[in-house]
Amino acid sequence: MATTSRRDALKLLAAAGGVAALPTSAWARQADPVFADYQAASQTDPWTLVVRDAPAAGFDGRPELVSGTAPDGLTGTLFRNGPGRFSRQDWRYRHWFDGDGFLQAWNISPDGLRHQGRFIQTDKWQAEEAAGRFIVPALASVPPQPGGLSGPDDMNVANTSVLLLGDELLALWEGGSAWSINPDTLESQGARRWGNGLDGVPFSAHPKREPDSGIVWNFGQDAIRDRMIIWKIGADGALLDAGLVDDVPGGMVHDFVITEHSLVFLVGSYRFQQMRLPFLDSFAFDPAAPMMAIAIDKNDWSRRRTWELPPGFLFHFGGAWEEADGTIRLDAALSQDARFAMAGAYDIMRGQAETQTDSQARHRQVTLAAGGRSRIESLGDGFIEFPQIDPRFTGLRRRETWHIAWDADQPRGATRIERRNLHSGEHDRFDHGEGVYVEEPLFVPASPAAPEGEGWILHTALNTRMQQTELHAFNAQNLSDGPVASWRLPYACPFGFHGCWRPG
Ligand SMILES: [Fe+2]
Repeated sequence: MATTSRRDALKLLAAAGGVAALPTSAWARQADPVFADYQAASQTDPWTLVVRDAPAAGFDGRPELVSGTAPDGLTGTLFRNGPGRFSRQDWRYRHWFDGDGFLQAWNISPDGLRHQGRFIQTDKWQAEEAAGRFIVPALASVPPQPGGLSGPDDMNVANTSVLLLGDELLALWEGGSAWSINPDTLESQGARRWGNGLDGVPFSAHPKREPDSGIVWNFGQDAIRDRMIIWKIGADGALLDAGLVDDVPGGMVHDFVITEHSLVFLVGSYRFQQMRLPFLDSFAFDPAAPMMAIAIDKNDWSRRRTWELPPGFLFHFGGAWEEADGTIRLDAALSQDARFAMAGAYDIMRGQAETQTDSQARHRQVTLAAGGRSRIESLGDGFIEFPQIDPRFTGLRRRETWHIAWDADQPRGATRIERRNLHSGEHDRFDHGEGVYVEEPLFVPASPAAPEGEGWILHTALNTRMQQTELHAFNAQNLSDGPVASWRLPYACPFGFHGCWRPG
């Protein structure tokens, strides 16, 4: 195992971002304009509920079936994670990604549905809940009278995604540890500890599971030092290997893809410049910096292939596979710049719709061939995000991607879900219409042996007319007929980012 010999280096990685205590801000006792703007907007505009504060005690509710019939065979739990606490003491975070992780579970059984929401009991959450105020600097916000940081887990909000690993549910962030959760009770069990000097080392929010072996691959980035850690974990949750990879440009790398032979990263043009607080201010979009694609050999992490692509940025991939000649094909939600991270996600915190520009992400297919040759092709000109695939085809040649979609005249975000066949271009869509804002569409196979794409799409949504959160289930191959079943909660939940499905 590579971990032991690299223990000291990994400890350094864990300490990246550690800073001394900050001086008291002069404006600490002044009225907060971001808090005031959000309060004013929320009086008249129910769309602002997407970034509401969830109650500290969480939610417990029984979603009501409002149309259709619950599909036979669809039993299990949809877990979703996202930021759920944005303000304390009349002071509000500046950026959507700063909020404390709020885990939701939609349990679907023959007896009906049950919904639960619980804050993830990170060290940060517990300390700030006890103090009644924000204490530590967040990713993109520094609260009044901030304390110091000894390492990334001091500011870990565990707010981005979830991974089922053995009998654990891990709540994922990308700057520090995964947070262990009991999937049956949603109780937090502390930071996930791997031993081998790896405690507190970044574990990103988009791990990938090989369908046959169950092996989970992930990475953690040290953008300051142009390097990353690779994680290889067995299906049972045991660490198989971990080690550093150097000379990875310090861009903001949020997601990656795997193929049969490779781990594939796209480093966009949103690059680390110099250390600043809040940490997100350390990054800037460099329109002269090409995107770099890096394919690392799964069996020898010192072997890589690289490609240079036009400047751009992305949060999320659909999937990838590798042809017999080594050519890699992947699809992603690519944008020309990082305006959403740098502007739109700030606007939302004030209760304002993001500014629409050409910066929105579009569905693109990227081909990475021998000799450094590459090609980017359009898979459609609409705006898309949260591309999802049939997870049984992770890293393998496949046909389809599902995603949310919206148009330039929809500044408040997506009302559609869509499916696209990458090979034929055939596509299918359903539009809920203005007033129903959709979240990530997750694919659930009809059965373990069902053909690719045969199953359901589950997605949650905020209904602003009702001011309530909904769950919709679709036949994954026939979105345009509308949901086969829709349920509604008696309350509105803050938007989440990503989820996973546990059958049973
Ligand atoms: Fe993400």
